Amino acid sequence: MLDFVTDKTHNEARQGEAYAPFSGDPNQYKKRFYIESYGCQMNFADSEIVASILNKEGFGATRNLEEADLIFINTCSIREKAEQTVRKRLTEFRKLKEQKKGMLVGVLGCMAERLKSKFLEEEKLVDIVVGPDAYRTLPGLVEEAESGQKAVNVLLSREETYADISPVRLDSNGVSAFVSIMRGCNNMCSFCVVPFTRGRERSRDVSSIIRECRDLFEKGFKEVTLLGQNVDSYYYTPESTQINSPETPVTFAMLLEQVALISPELRVRFSTSHPKDITDDVLHTMARYENICKYIHLPVQSGSSRILQLMNRTYTREWYMAKVDRIRQIMPDCGISSDIIAGFCTETEEDHKDTLSVMEYSRYDMSYMFFYSERPGTLAERRYTDDVPIEVKKRRLQEIVELQNRLSQESNKKDLGKTFKVLIEGDSKRSDKDWMGRNSQNKVVVFAKENYALKKGDYVNVKVEDCTQATLLGKIVK
Ligand code: 5AD
Ligand code: SF4
Repeated sequence: MLDFVTDKTHNEARQGEAYAPFSGDPNQYKKRFYIESYGCQMNFADSEIVASILNKEGFGATRNLEEADLIFINTCSIREKAEQTVRKRLTEFRKLKEQKKGMLVGVLGCMAERLKSKFLEEEKLVDIVVGPDAYRTLPGLVEEAESGQKAVNVLLSREETYADISPVRLDSNGVSAFVSIMRGCNNMCSFCVVPFTRGRERSRDVSSIIRECRDLFEKGFKEVTLLGQNVDSYYYTPESTQINSPETPVTFAMLLEQVALISPELRVRFSTSHPKDITDDVLHTMARYENICKYIHLPVQSGSSRILQLMNRTYTREWYMAKVDRIRQIMPDCGISSDIIAGFCTETEEDHKDTLSVMEYSRYDMSYMFFYSERPGTLAERRYTDDVPIEVKKRRLQEIVELQNRLSQESNKKDLGKTFKVLIEGDSKRSDKDWMGRNSQNKVVVFAKENYALKKGDYVNVKVEDCTQATLLGKIVK
C-alpha cells in the first residue's frame, strides 16, 4: 500500500520534506518544527495531522532544518532498506544537534512503534519516540523531553482515527490532497510488518471524512485520494443517538458515492484495494460517477497460488485473474497497477514464472516491485526460512521490472490518438512552458501550455500524440 505524490499507501521509502507556510507574524510561534516523512502516503497524511496538533500548541512549521527547534522524522518499517535510510538520516541530524543546544529530535511512525524505547538506547540522538496512534500526546512529550527526560508513547489504540483533526496541508500543490479514512490493518499478510506497527483496523467517522473533503473542495482542491491500508474493508457504524433507531452502517461503496456527490468537479481516488475485499458494489459505483477515477491499485504480490497461500493473501492466482476480468468487464477503460514481491520464502523458478504470467494477463499500467525483505516479528519470519539467495531475488526482480517496463510502454502506446480529460497539477518538471497533469487512469500527461489561459486545478482535454514509458505527451484540444 505510496514514488509519485499521488500514489498509494506504503511504497518505497521516499524522502520528503514537509513544511507549512507561515501565516501572519513569524514571531507568533514559540518554537519551530521540521518534519521529514518517509514511506507510504499514510505517513505523509499523518505528518499533516502532527503539524496540526503542533500548530495548535503554538509551534510553527519550517522547511529550513537549521531554523528548527524540533526535528521530526516520520518513519517506515516496511522493508529493511527503508529503516536503513532513516538511521542514516538520524546520524546526519546529530551534527545539527551538536551545533544547536536544546534542539530535540523525535522519531514518529512505524519504526518508533517497532523499536519502542530501544530507539532511545540504540540511537543516542533521539529524544522523543511516538507511535502512529499517540500523536495527540506529542505536545506533552515535547515538554517532557525539554525537561531532560526521554519521552516515549507507543501505545496502539482500537479507536484513534484523528477524525476531528483538520490536517495542515504540507507541501501541497493546492490541487490534490490525501484524506485518511481508516487506520491499521487486520489482514496479517505473512510478510508484512504493518499490522504490528499500525495496529488493528478502524474506520473513521463518515461525517468527518465528508466534512474534510468538502472543506478541501471549498478551498480550491480538485482531487481527494481516500487512504487506508485496505480501503475496501471500510465499515463505519454511526453511533445511534436514540434507542431503537439504529443507523445504517456505511460501506466503502457508500462512502465513495457520498464523496463523489460533493461535486462533479471534485475527482475521487482511493488506495489501497485488497483483491479479496473489492466488491462489485465498489466497481459499479466507480462506473456510475465520472468523477471517481478509473484506476485501481490492486496488489497481487505473487502469481503463484502456493506462494499466495504462504503469504496469507487468501486468494488464488485464478481468483485474482477473475477479479481483473471483472474490473475490465465493468470498466473497460480502468487503469490497474500492482505491488509485486520477488523471492518470497521457498519461491521456485516455476512460482516466479507464474508471477510473470499474471502480470502479462493483468496488463498492469504500473507496478511497485520489491524483493522480499524479512521483517522481525512477522508471521513469515517466525514460520518460514528466508531461503531464496539474494542474487536470485535480484535477478527475478530485474525480470519483473523489465516485463513491467514493456507492459507500461504497451499500455501507453494504446493511448496514442486518444483524448483525455486531464486535471492540471502544475508546471512539468522539464519546462515551465508545459503543463503536467493526470488523466482519470492516473497516467501523467505533459502538454504545451500554448496561449490558453489555464491554471493549476483546471480540467482540460488533451489528445495524446506521443509517449514514453512513464508519460503521455499531448496537445490541448478545444
Ligand atoms: N518485503 C518486501 N516487500 C514488502 N512489502 C510489504 N512487506 C514487504 C516485505 N517484507 C510490499 C508489498 C506491499 C508494499 C507496500 O510493500 O508489496 O504491498
Ligand atoms: Fe497491506 Fe497485507 Fe500489510 Fe495489511 S498486512 S498492510 S493488506 S500488505
